[in-house]
Amino acid sequence: MAGPILERELRVLHLEDSEFDHQLLVAHLRRGGLRVQIHQVDSEADFLAALGMGWDVILSDYNLPGFSGLVALDLLKASGRDVPFILVSGEIGEDTAVEAMRNGASDYLLKNNLARLVPALLHAVEATETRRARVRADRELGESKQRLRELAQHLQTSIEQERAAIAREIHDDVGGSLTALKFDLAWIARHSTSAEVTNRVNSALETVTLAIDSSKRIMHNLRPAILEQGLVAALQWIASRFERRNGVACEIRLPASTPELPAGVPLVAYRTAQEALTNISKHAQATRVQLDLSLAGGVLSLEISDNGRGLSQEDLAKARSFGIRGLHERASTVGGWVDLSSGPAGTTLILSVPLNTAAAVDPNALPGGEPNDPSEWGEL
Ligand SMILES: Nc1ncnc2c1ncn2[C@@H]1O[C@H](COP(=O)(O)OP(=O)(O)OP(=O)(O)O)[C@@H](O)[C@H]1O
Ligand SMILES: [Mg+2]
Repeated sequence: MAGPILERELRVLHLEDSEFDHQLLVAHLRRGGLRVQIHQVDSEADFLAALGMGWDVILSDYNLPGFSGLVALDLLKASGRDVPFILVSGEIGEDTAVEAMRNGASDYLLKNNLARLVPALLHAVEATETRRARVRADRELGESKQRLRELAQHLQTSIEQERAAIAREIHDDVGGSLTALKFDLAWIARHSTSAEVTNRVNSALETVTLAIDSSKRIMHNLRPAILEQGLVAALQWIASRFERRNGVACEIRLPASTPELPAGVPLVAYRTAQEALTNISKHAQATRVQLDLSLAGGVLSLEISDNGRGLSQEDLAKARSFGIRGLHERASTVGGWVDLSSGPAGTTLILSVPLNTAAAVDPNALPGGEPNDPSEWGEL
């Protein structure tokens, strides 16, 4: 670091009332190979006026008429500027030196021993620049993390909007056509006089009925209509479907109903349960699963636990696994968070959403405010 510092001209503010001492210090700096642009001030007013002019380092005498190095240091701190400050004094007791260092001085030197001036100055400038660079890097990293978080939240919201839009198209286009086809086939069946035609039509009716069921199922996966009956009903349904499909008991503890939940919260809770249960069936090898929903102290808490094999930090770091990462982002779209704990006794995932502060984002809201909930469009 000293290299680049030596290559440029350093801007030095020198607080010193003795012209002789000032010249001596300048001579030391030049002899030490530094290129400096140095500005001397000798009063509080001049010091204050000069503070904002962008200095690489401030060198300050300790005792000045009506002013002192320690007061100057306080003024520098109060100004909020991060400039290294070195006390250069005729006589400085150990106590004063300690106090100065405690107050943020970078170093202190005795005027009768200026041999250390150049290395002390270079070290102070370098330390400050390293600190500034770190602060800048931290800030940039923080901003970048924030942008990433916003992007991930936006993606989650977009996914739900897109799903709702696809569900609506399936309902309107595919569903509408299949229903019309079913009516036509039923008409043909009723009016057919040939047994052969009737057989064929009935078989076609069966196919159409299957297709209607499939599109209902696809629609449901895209946008769970069951949520219209409330979160409790939706969780009951998803738990019983899990039991049916996996042959593993899923114990549920749910309140009888929930108060009106902020927009977006039921869907986030539903998707969390869905992903947690999917993970259990895919990875956990569990024999018992428990799903609890509670609303206490203004916080919605959804807990899904299993007695399976548990997961490790490596599992969570898998490059191609996005389920749990997505849950964190989903939760934050409504001001909540996800906690995951795991051990040999199994895995527990908890979604918490403070309800009074939950951001009122509706992940289902489509631009233009069109109604987009397939469940509102009646049966296929
Ligand atoms: N309940 C669980 N029991 C044991 N291991 C689990 C459990 N849930 C998750 N895991 C482990 O954590 C990993 C990450 O889970 P995550 O849901 O993020 O991704 P995934 O299920 O692998 O893929 P997807 O992106 O489709 O969800 C899984 O691959 C699995 O190894
Ligand atoms: Mg998963």
